[in-house]
Amino acid sequence: MKWSTALLAHVALAAAVGGASAASGSTLALPPISAHPTNASQVIDRRLASFSFELSFLPTFAGNKSHPNVLTRELMKRLEERTGLGPDIRPGGITVDSSVFDPNAPALTLAQSATGGIYKTTFGPEFFEFLGTFPNSSRVLWSVNLGNNTIGFAQAGIKAAIQHIGWDRLLAFELGNEADHYGGGSRPRGWSSADYTAQFLGWTSFLTRNLSLPHNIFLAGGFAEDPTSAAPMTTVSIIEDGADTTGVVKLFAQHTYQYSTCDPVRDAKATLPNLVNHRNVTAYLDLWKPQIAAAHKESKEFIVGEYSSVSCSGKQNVTDTYGQALWLADTILYGGTINIARMHLHQGATLVFQSSQQANSAGFSWYDLWYPVETDRYGAPRAAPSFVAYLLVTEAIGYSGNSRFSLIDVPGHDDVAVYAIWDPAIRSSGIARLAVLNLAVRNESTPSENAADTAVTLDLSRYLQKGKAATVKRMTAPGLDSKDSSRVTWAGQSYANGTAEGAEVVEKLTNGTVTVGGSEGVLVFF
Ligand SMILES: *[C@@H]1O[C@H](CO)[C@@H](O)[C@H](O)[C@H]1NC(C)=O
Ligand SMILES: *[C@@H]1O[C@H](CO)[C@@H](O)[C@H](O)[C@H]1NC(C)=O
Ligand SMILES: *[C@@H]1O[C@H](CO)[C@@H](O)[C@H](O)[C@H]1NC(C)=O
Ligand SMILES: *[C@@H]1O[C@H](CO)[C@@H](O)[C@H](O)[C@H]1NC(C)=O
Ligand SMILES: *[C@@H]1O[C@H](CO)[C@@H](O)[C@H](O)[C@H]1NC(C)=O
Ligand SMILES: *[C@@H]1O[C@H](CO)[C@@H](O)[C@H](O)[C@H]1NC(C)=O
Ligand SMILES: *[C@@H]1O[C@H](CO)[C@@H](O)[C@H](O)[C@H]1NC(C)=O
Ligand SMILES: *[C@@H]1O[C@H](CO)[C@@H](O)[C@H](O)[C@H]1NC(C)=O
Ligand SMILES: *[C@@H]1O[C@H](CO)[C@@H](O)[C@H](O)[C@H]1NC(C)=O
Ligand SMILES: *[C@@H]1O[C@H](CO)[C@@H](O)[C@H](O)[C@H]1NC(C)=O
Repeated sequence: MKWSTALLAHVALAAAVGGASAASGSTLALPPISAHPTNASQVIDRRLASFSFELSFLPTFAGNKSHPNVLTRELMKRLEERTGLGPDIRPGGITVDSSVFDPNAPALTLAQSATGGIYKTTFGPEFFEFLGTFPNSSRVLWSVNLGNNTIGFAQAGIKAAIQHIGWDRLLAFELGNEADHYGGGSRPRGWSSADYTAQFLGWTSFLTRNLSLPHNIFLAGGFAEDPTSAAPMTTVSIIEDGADTTGVVKLFAQHTYQYSTCDPVRDAKATLPNLVNHRNVTAYLDLWKPQIAAAHKESKEFIVGEYSSVSCSGKQNVTDTYGQALWLADTILYGGTINIARMHLHQGATLVFQSSQQANSAGFSWYDLWYPVETDRYGAPRAAPSFVAYLLVTEAIGYSGNSRFSLIDVPGHDDVAVYAIWDPAIRSSGIARLAVLNLAVRNESTPSENAADTAVTLDLSRYLQKGKAATVKRMTAPGLDSKDSSRVTWAGQSYANGTAEGAEVVEKLTNGTVTVGGSEGVLVFF
C-alpha cells in the first residue's frame, strides 16, 4: 500500500488520468451525523452488489472447467477480497423461459434465428461448470422455465441444480422471468396477479413434494414493470393474492431498469445527464418502497433480481462509459439505504426478440460490467469503465457484516450524494466510512476552469477520530464520458484486465477536508 500526502496524491492523480484538480468549486457543510445508526438502513448484506447473467450467455462469461474465463474469475476475486464473500449469481433472464435441461446434452446448445434471436436454450450437466469460475462463497439463485407452462421443464431444471450445484450453494429457485410480461404471449391476454399467484402456489406445492424440497426455498415475483398503478402484478399484489400462505417463499424480487432503448421515445431520454442524476436515481428506487415494506411485513427479504440503467441491452456512449459507474454507485448505495437486500446487475448480450423497434443489434450488451471474450464490436476482453463502482461499493460495505447506511441530506447540492456508513466492528461510536459522489457533469472535453467549478469541498473535521488519520480512496476518470477502462481508476489503480494496475494512491484529508471533483466519488475511512 502506498501512502502519500493529499497534495502528492492530487498531483499524481492529475498526471495519471487528467482528473479534476483540487481547485475552486464550492464548500459544502454537512449536517450533524449521529454517532450511532439510529435512523439508518438494516444491516447491509455483504452481497448487496450481486450479479445476474442471461442464462444463454453464462458460459461465455464463465467459461468451463478446462477453460475458465480468467477475466471473470479475477474480477469476482476483486470483490470477494473486499467483503469476504463472493457476489450471489443468478443465471436468469428471458432465455430461461425457453430453456430445457437435457441430461444427455452438451453444455449449451442455442437454437437461433438468422439475426441472432434465441428460440431455445438446451443445457446439459457440463453447463454447471460455470460454478468453478466464481468464488466458492458465491451462492446461486437458480431460475427455471415457467413461460413454457410445462411443469416437467421446471422439475428437471431444479433436479439438475440440486445434483450439479448442491445445497451448500443453492440460495433459492425462481420460476420464470418477468411473468408480468406473459399476458398476450405465452399466457392469455389479461393474465393477472391472481393467475400468476395461483400457478405459483400450484407449481411450488407440486415441486416441493415431488423433489422433497425444504420449506421457504422459492423466489416469488421477479416482475419487469415499474410498480406504478399500471403494473399488472407486484410484490404487494401477489402477497394480497396469497403468494405467501403456503410456506414456500424465501424472498421477493422485482426488476429495475430506469431507462430503455426498447423504443425511440424512451431511447431519446437515455442520456448520461439524465442517468447520472441523484434525484432521478432516488425518485426511481423510491417507487419500490411499498414493495420492500410488503416483503418485510412477511419477514422476507426483498431483492432486485435483475437490473441495469438502460433496458434492451443498454446504449452506446452512455452505459459503456464511466458515467455508468457513477450511476451504479449511487443506485446500489441508495438501494442498500432503503433496505433492498441485494441487487443483481445483469450481464449478457442483446436479444433481438426483446422488441420489434429496439435500437440495438446482437452482441454484448452496452451495459455489461466487463467483456469476457474478444469480439469485433468491443475488441479485447476487459473490464468496462463502470467496474470501479463495484470496488467503491464493496469497500463501502466492508468485511464485518455489520454495516448500515444512511443518505445524508445536503441541501442546495442536488448533484452531491453523501452516504454515512456505520460499522461497529470498525468504530463503536461515530461513522466508520463516508461515501461522497459528486454527480456534476465533467466531461473529457470540459475546459479545466469549468471542471474546477464542479468540485466540492467537504469539511469532515467533526467526524474524525482522535489519534487516527482518516484516509481517502477516489474513483475518477478523465471525464464522465470516458470509455477507456485503463484510464478509469479506483485509488489510483485501473482494472482493465481484472487485476490492479499502477501504484495504489491512498490520500489523507487536507486540514480535515476532502475535495471531490465533478464526476468523482470518494470513500473516506475514519
Ligand atoms: C430517517 O431516514 C429517512 C430516510 O433516510 C428520512 O426520510 C427521515 O426523514 C429520517 N428521519 C429522521 C427522524 O431523521
Ligand atoms: C470448454 O471450453 C472450451 C473453450 O471454449 C471448449 O473448447 C470446450 O469444448 C469446453 N468444454 C466443455 C466440456 O464444454
Ligand atoms: C474453490 O475451492 C476449491 C477447493 O478448495 C479450490 O480448488 C478452488 O480453486 C476454489 N475456487 C475458487 C474460484 O477460488
Ligand atoms: C414449449 O416448449 C416446446 C418444446 O421446446 C416448444 O415446442 C413450444 O413451442 C414451447 N411453447 C411455448 C409457449 O414456449
Ligand atoms: C415426481 O414427478 C414425476 C413426473 O410427474 C414422477 O414420475 C415421479 O414419480 C414423481 N416423484 C415423486 C417422489 O413424487
Ligand atoms: C432526470 O432528471 C432531469 C433533471 O432533474 C429531468 O429533467 C429529467 O426529466 C429526469 N428524467 C427522468 C426520465 O426522470
Ligand atoms: C458513439 O460514439 C462513437 C465515437 O464517438 C460514434 O462513432 C458512434 O456513432 C456513437 N454512437 C451512438 C449510438 O451515438
Ligand atoms: C457531456 O457529455 C455527455 C455525453 O456525451 C453529453 O450528453 C453532455 O451534454 C455533456 N455535458 C457537458 C456539460 O459537456
Ligand atoms: C494484467 O496486466 C498486468 C500488467 O500488464 C499483469 O501483470 C497481470 O498478470 C495481468 N493479469 C491478468 C489476469 O492477465
Ligand atoms: C485549517 O482549518 C482551520 C479551521 O477550519 C483554519 O482555521 C485554518 O486556517 C486551516 N489551516 C489551513 C492551513 O488551511
